[in-house]
Amino acid sequence: MNTYSRITGTGSFLPPRRLSNADLASKLAAKGVETSHEWIVERTGIEARHFADPGVCSSDLALEACRNALQAAGLEPTDIDLIIVATSTPDMVFPSTACILQNKLGANGCPAFDVQAVCSGFIYALTVADAMIKTGAAKRALVVGAEVFSRILDFTDRTTCVLFGDGAGAVVLEASDTPGILASDLHADGKHVGILCVPGHVSGGQVLGNPLLKMDGQAVFKLAVGLLDAAARATLNKAGVDATDIDWLIPHQANLRIMQSTAKKLKLPMDKVIITVDQHGNTSAASIPLALDVGVRSGRVKPGELILLEGVGGGFTWGAVLLKM
Ligand code: UT7
Repeated sequence: MNTYSRITGTGSFLPPRRLSNADLASKLAAKGVETSHEWIVERTGIEARHFADPGVCSSDLALEACRNALQAAGLEPTDIDLIIVATSTPDMVFPSTACILQNKLGANGCPAFDVQAVCSGFIYALTVADAMIKTGAAKRALVVGAEVFSRILDFTDRTTCVLFGDGAGAVVLEASDTPGILASDLHADGKHVGILCVPGHVSGGQVLGNPLLKMDGQAVFKLAVGLLDAAARATLNKAGVDATDIDWLIPHQANLRIMQSTAKKLKLPMDKVIITVDQHGNTSAASIPLALDVGVRSGRVKPGELILLEGVGGGFTWGAVLLKM
């Protein structure tokens, strides 16, 4: 049995192709879809996103993020004894993206599996890895969020295609005598499946149903604000920590207005919130580890600081993790 798990390295990767709102708007205009930089910034805070080139998969983005995280932790791939990948855009129907990543990394032999909780995926994966480390089932885990959401966007639907981007983030989570992950809180409510989903599936050699993302944006927005607040409070309560003690809030990066509402409810000023949605768009399961890595590498997130991660997404799924860096 290990006492705690602790993040000892972070990493991230964005595919090089960056599209500003103006770049995307002009591509959409060519298809007769009308949008503007002004609308996207005002309603979402997004200014740009990155799209992977054809043939580049979630495991490719994850590989670079993991290499960066391993380097930061001073570890080799062969030191890893557990790989969990959170993704809703896997390379294949099966095997898991985690197995494909494991082989690319050269970490063959350790358990590797995917977690599917859409934009809450990294929160779920981190909680599972923490539990496995605490039981002694693992000592050094790679926990990854990786997505190529550009592959499941309907570029004729302006209400969704301007919101998402591709990317990956990873952490090394190690057994430790000192904290570490202090508390977490996970939830799901399947009655909301229909408001955010990709309903298509593979059957008899064909894709049946719509394989592109559908969202009722306003319904998601309203649910997200309340659920993020509930998860944040439940997690803080479990650890006996006051919201004012948090050094950094790192929420899922979907919409700046959701992040502002969440911070306001916790009475946290926006300068305690790491924001990457402006440059990355919504990268689903990758958004939280990407933002964490940006926070660490920019020198804002420092060892010993108290961080609250929180996510919400399709399912509906939601949750939060409180940790000490
Ligand atoms: O990671 C999963 C979690 N996902 C989210 O958190 C997303 C949550 N939802 C949202 O972020 C917001 O609801 C959106 C950004 C998706 C939409 O913002 P909104 O303020 O709720 O806008 P709306 O849907 O009420 O649309 C307002 C207007 C509509 O026009 P009319 O009917 O007022 O004439 C839309 O047709 O804006 C129009 N519109 C656009 N106009 C230009 C919608 N999308 C666009 C667009 N460009 N891309």
